[in-house]
Amino acid sequence: MKLEDKNIVLIGMMGSGKTTVGKMLAKEMSLNFVDTDKELEEKIGRSISEIFATDGEDEFRRLEEEIVKQVAERGGQVIATGGGVVLKPENIKVLRKKGIIIFLYTAPQVLIKRLKDDDSRPLIKCSDPERRLKELLRIRLPLYRKAAQIEVDTGRLTPDQVVRVLVEKI
Ligand code: S3P
Repeated sequence: MKLEDKNIVLIGMMGSGKTTVGKMLAKEMSLNFVDTDKELEEKIGRSISEIFATDGEDEFRRLEEEIVKQVAERGGQVIATGGGVVLKPENIKVLRKKGIIIFLYTAPQVLIKRLKDDDSRPLIKCSDPERRLKELLRIRLPLYRKAAQIEVDTGRLTPDQVVRVLVEKI
């Protein structure tokens, strides 16, 4: 399969830079950029926060699975996924068909700094977001590692540097 028919799929926690890096990487590699959260919001006509608040996380995961399936069928894209995409094995199965899966690892201490004034992540709207992030990462780390062919620690790198590393590795 030619690169223009494949997908480059970014996975990792919220705040790991999937969207920022993804947009830059897509430009660099002349591929389309797709963000599954954005696609979902556009399709449903509601924000992720609203979906969580009115229908709950299970319904969000069901909608996310539908969107992932649709996006994964197309090719020639850099796909930024939601942080919880690895929770459903089916998502990874479909993304892998045309995709190279890349895990952007970011330590919780770095994530918390990046997300401290962010209001758009319902899962960390709680009294102790750092603890919550650590808990989520503890559960998800093995899933991210199992799913990915490439892993990059983004902690000390600028988005530009992450893109450089990725272009080398892909
Ligand atoms: C989630 C991450 C979010 C979004 C939703 C759930 C998660 O995406 O899909 O709020 O479970 O980690 P980002 O990783 O783009 O923030």
